[in-house]
Amino acid sequence: MPLQQQMSWRVWQDNRKRRDIVDTKLFTDSPADLEKAAALLRQGHVVGIPTETVYGLAADARNPAAVKQIFAAKGRPADNPLIVHIGELSALHEVAANVPPLALRLAERFWPGPLTIILPKSASIPDVTSGGLDTVGIRMPSHPVAQALIRLSGVPVAAPSANRSGYPSPTTAQHVMTDMQGRIAAVVDGGVCTVGVESTVIALEGDNAVRILRPGYVTAEQLSEIAAHVTLDPAILHDIQAGQEVRSPGMKYQHYSPRAKVTLVEGEWNAFAAWIQQFAAEEGVYALIFDSEAETLPVPAFTYGATDAQQAQQIFSKLREMDDIGAKHVFVQAPRKNGVGLAVYNRLIRAAGFEVIQV
Ligand code: TXA
Ligand code: MG
Repeated sequence: MPLQQQMSWRVWQDNRKRRDIVDTKLFTDSPADLEKAAALLRQGHVVGIPTETVYGLAADARNPAAVKQIFAAKGRPADNPLIVHIGELSALHEVAANVPPLALRLAERFWPGPLTIILPKSASIPDVTSGGLDTVGIRMPSHPVAQALIRLSGVPVAAPSANRSGYPSPTTAQHVMTDMQGRIAAVVDGGVCTVGVESTVIALEGDNAVRILRPGYVTAEQLSEIAAHVTLDPAILHDIQAGQEVRSPGMKYQHYSPRAKVTLVEGEWNAFAAWIQQFAAEEGVYALIFDSEAETLPVPAFTYGATDAQQAQQIFSKLREMDDIGAKHVFVQAPRKNGVGLAVYNRLIRAAGFEVIQV
């Protein structure tokens, strides 16, 4: 093909793509704006919504065309299933084919809140929503804006985290605008997410046992108040090995990674401080640590909180901030692997591509 013709072919393709590009509206949480956002959901559009965990990319879970737009906007692999968000307990029976007593006990104890329960899906949930699986992850969010949108729209809302696939999850409306401007109809600003990491995802194993597939704000200790046996899936702390059974498709994919390289550093504070001396003169190297000892380090340092809950709330926005300031390599002081800390550790070890240094 002559060069001239090749170029006009490119321009034509570009223009064809541009026709899909929308001007993403930023709504407040005023009643008038919530009505507009709910109408968009009803009409099969994708809207970025706040939840207590992270922002979600919401669409009508029963509408395959709407759900396909979620996958396109995120660049998400089609076999990675979405979580369906409901507004009241009665909707559980519309989304799930059957609801065992253990699921009801868990729902009564932890909903509304950051727990996702995997159950057999009903016929109302299309294959595109469940990533081709015959199960569906269900949760009832506690954020008042999420609840209002589900109630006003009257639809069960499929919503993955509202980041571009592979990037850290968004915890502010601005994060969603950065990732999704021009790709979705609107974003509703409901403030900063209070939890900061995604929901705990569990599968039921018999009458009285649950398996945690993804750790979150609801901890193993809390779950064991309701279920006699609680196990952690091995994929929580380890990379998937060839041939290993994958219980949650999301575990297979690269996750939560900023553009900067991330390395997790495990060990006592003094050892961390001594070890990082070797990077004193290196440009673009940053440390992300628990609290205020930043000024004692030889590299610029940011903090992400001293407690589990603070670390959960801040980790994703700090990883995004590292990119905003042009960091090349971030050494992160590893959180503890208990309680809510396990959720933070699970996200960080993936952001780091499983690169952990012991000091
Ligand atoms: O807190 C949250 O859960 C947020 C907010 C928006 O609600 N949502 C969220 O969705 O984190 P997403 O799509 O980013 O992560 C859902 C995870 C994925 O790892 C997915 O593979 C897993 O849950 N999952 C969903 N449905 C599943 C199913 N039926 N079986 C196994 N794993 C499932
Ligand atoms: Mg996600």
